[in-house]
Amino acid sequence: MAQFKVVVLGAGGVGKSALTVRFIQGVFLENYDPTIEEEYRRSISVDGIPTTLEVLDTAGAEQFTSLNEVYIKAGKGFVLVFSLTQEASLKEVDHLRKQIYRIKGESGPIPIVVVGTKLDLVNEREVHRNTIQALASRWNLPFYETSSKRNWHITEVFEDLVRQMRAR
Ligand code: GTP
Ligand code: MG
Repeated sequence: MAQFKVVVLGAGGVGKSALTVRFIQGVFLENYDPTIEEEYRRSISVDGIPTTLEVLDTAGAEQFTSLNEVYIKAGKGFVLVFSLTQEASLKEVDHLRKQIYRIKGESGPIPIVVVGTKLDLVNEREVHRNTIQALASRWNLPFYETSSKRNWHITEVFEDLVRQMRAR
């Protein structure tokens, strides 16, 4: 069975662990416990073909971002996470995106999905749909708006990434 290494990156507190754990274990992490580094594994069938994903949930906290280079070198596909409730967290995604292209230094496309979290917090939303549409076309990357709490569009994120990784 094909096995792919996926790295989940983004600023602190945006919901990387909640997204990862929702996908892997099917539950919502209500309490905030900052991550150092966690690795998970799950098999999924995408388009009728089984695949194993090794998902690395990383730390958003500043003091650990020096490890990102190591993670990026090891990863095949990347989930870049920001919070729809925090406009500033998009800046970190832009930074990570550039870092990935710099480190991978490949001419071909790199499997990346951009995820805006906390879609259920409608009254706290700061990042508008038109901002997302503009960035999706400027960066030429797929964007998903998700809620780990409500289990909205979580699986789609990983399925999209699997299709991209297979195509490489
Ligand atoms: P670091 O590990 O420090 O980098 O943070 P993180 O990006 O892993 O954030 P985490 O997943 O721990 O989530 C931070 C807080 O946001 C937690 O209290 C989560 O319950 C909450 N949260 C995450 N996703 C959602 C969501 O979709 N909806 C709501 N309402 N809360 C969420
Ligand atoms: Mg975390």
